[in-house]
Amino acid sequence: MNTEHLKKIAAEKATEEVRDGTVVGLGTGSTVYYALLKLGTMVRDGLNIIGIPTSDGTEKIAIEQGIPLSTLASHPVIELTIDGADEVDAHLNLIKGGGAALVREKIIANASKRILIVVDESKVSRVLGTSFALPVEIVRFGWEATQREVNNICGKSDLRGGIENPLITDNGNYILDCHFDGIPEPEKIELQLNNVPGVVENGIFVNRADKVIIGTPTGIQYME
Ligand code: 5RP
Repeated sequence: MNTEHLKKIAAEKATEEVRDGTVVGLGTGSTVYYALLKLGTMVRDGLNIIGIPTSDGTEKIAIEQGIPLSTLASHPVIELTIDGADEVDAHLNLIKGGGAALVREKIIANASKRILIVVDESKVSRVLGTSFALPVEIVRFGWEATQREVNNICGKSDLRGGIENPLITDNGNYILDCHFDGIPEPEKIELQLNNVPGVVENGIFVNRADKVIIGTPTGIQYME
């Protein structure tokens, strides 16, 4: 069974929890993509929801799918958010930001009553930061100085895209991918990184997910 199928079954399972008449946070990434397609079908079949997208990319897909959209300003409370993750540990802590949307994803997560994370089984990890570099969004001004400070915490980081062609996020910032040798205390590192001047936000999500829906070759598994 290929990974795309595992992503699809997890994402579609999450859409079963979307209730009529609710505000839904729409995450970012190739797994959430399948949830957006399914929600589009459900909307065309009469489901009434308002989506709040976590990235320009998701906004575009949602519009193509005919999912009505709004903003946090108009809808400050989100009933349910469906989002992906790059790494998930047994305590439902996450690394996110592989799709460069971590700032908006964390803002939306903070406004959400309930968060479902959809992943394929390759994302499950014993210790965060062992299989995926932690994305940290930083402002462009003085980014080299910010990177030096961040490296004091993680050891080594790469500017995403490289110096010649750095990736620019939807918020106009850079991303550092930080190579930890494991993050056994994610809560501490999340705060430490966000304390560095120039850091906008990092991809550690602690105590935010309510349920992780995992696509595996033998079906769906849950962590909650
Ligand atoms: C985007 C994210 C994504 O949810 C995460 O990178 C997972 O993406 P995918 O489902 O494509 O593996 O955090 O910022």
